[in-house]
Amino acid sequence: MFNFRCAVCILFFTFSLDKVDLLENGLARTPPMGWMSWGYYMCGTKCEPGDDKCLDESLIMSVADAFYNEGYQEAGYEYIIIDDCWSEMQRDERGRLVADKKRFPRGMKFLGDYIHSKGLKFGMYTNVAPVTCMQYPGSYSYLKKDADTFAEWGVDYLKVDGCFVSEEILNESYIKLGKHLNNTGRPIVFSCSWPYYIQYIINKSPDYVQVAKYCNLWRNFHDIQTTWPSARGVLQYYESNYQLFSKYHGPGHWNDPDMLIIGTGALTHSQSRIQLAVMAMLSAPLLLSCNMKRITPYEKQLLQNMDLIAIAQDPLGIMAEPYDVIPGISSWMKPHLPRKGDLYPSYSFAFVNLNKNDAHGYIDLKRFSFNATDGYTVLDVFTGQYFLNVTPTDRIEVTVKGEDVTLYSLFPL
Ligand SMILES: *[C@@H]1O[C@H](CO)[C@@H](O)[C@H](O)[C@H]1NC(C)=O
Ligand SMILES: *[C@@H]1O[C@H](CO)[C@@H](O)[C@H](O)[C@H]1NC(C)=O
Ligand SMILES: *[C@@H]1O[C@H](CO)[C@@H](O)[C@H](O)[C@H]1NC(C)=O
Repeated sequence: MFNFRCAVCILFFTFSLDKVDLLENGLARTPPMGWMSWGYYMCGTKCEPGDDKCLDESLIMSVADAFYNEGYQEAGYEYIIIDDCWSEMQRDERGRLVADKKRFPRGMKFLGDYIHSKGLKFGMYTNVAPVTCMQYPGSYSYLKKDADTFAEWGVDYLKVDGCFVSEEILNESYIKLGKHLNNTGRPIVFSCSWPYYIQYIINKSPDYVQVAKYCNLWRNFHDIQTTWPSARGVLQYYESNYQLFSKYHGPGHWNDPDMLIIGTGALTHSQSRIQLAVMAMLSAPLLLSCNMKRITPYEKQLLQNMDLIAIAQDPLGIMAEPYDVIPGISSWMKPHLPRKGDLYPSYSFAFVNLNKNDAHGYIDLKRFSFNATDGYTVLDVFTGQYFLNVTPTDRIEVTVKGEDVTLYSLFPL
């Protein structure tokens, strides 16, 4: 009797470690792709004639139209997310949040319906304090009411910030809000800023086991700015924290390095390639933040490169491992599908050169225990050319221009 119970007990225990420790609400099986207002539009509330950065109904509808009409939706871009500064300064008489009446005259339910009519998904934003980071009404003491309101408006993704609260409130609110969202019965991707605030505002080490248990994705680091040094800093941050972050990263629960800044005019072509390649290799969310009308033909082609999106959206969701080559040059390696005979995965390599000078090097396949006996065919992801076949004992030579990246996918033959 005792033995029997113990065996059952151990079985259950090992099973539950796998299954219960991570949020499993069936959502975000691959990292979310879409558009988010903050990076480019920020708190764009002035909306004077000719104002390029006006966060309003017509902007959000125009993003949905661009996704629908210009190939972004087919490429996988799906969520359209309104960040801070969307509401009136006062709740209504029933304590509910109200969309800004000038900028969103038909309300958020209307926008949700519009976005859904295009087969796309709708995201919104709140903060766990009494006010948001930009001083609009926040969800503190309204967690349930706001979860219900977002669900009624048809929200599919909620970004939840953590400005202005103590660690007690941070630790409590994300858990509570997650439960309220779940209780609405509406599938809502839950994006948390919890670990960022624990790390950088409270100055403690985030408990990522707990974060991954309650959140579908979470911000680890500062907001990205629309500059190359900021984008580069984000990539270097994930490189140096690979050991910590990769453990919690996978289908349903993702580290979130924040938005892409491609399309804002801040990046050169090769800097755009670097940001997109590393984000794809990380299995990071791909959230644009730009005026969709200003995306150049080259940027559009880059953002819709399906060989690159396949790396970013690979169902295994493995975060690429970075290897330092020399200072400023790193190579990232990521196994992904398809597998040959279920034994030999495909791999992608990114050689990132953050220095100004060209770099020359090689990949020694033996070093990465490549084992597909028939070898691999090599795709240059940015040119779309299959240019080489290799065996596991070969080296692949690479030359990477200053401040550029080479991205190869190797498929077993
Ligand atoms: C709520 O949580 C349960 C248990 O984790 C999950 O099975 C279910 O899909 C969730 N529902 C929603 C709407 O998030
Ligand atoms: C909140 O959680 C962090 C880990 O994420 C922990 O270090 C801290 O002690 C917690 N604070 C409180 C008051 O629970
Ligand atoms: C080949 O390597 C992969 C990844 O390391 C491993 O999962 C697989 O079992 C190996 N296959 C063989 C036949 O050794």
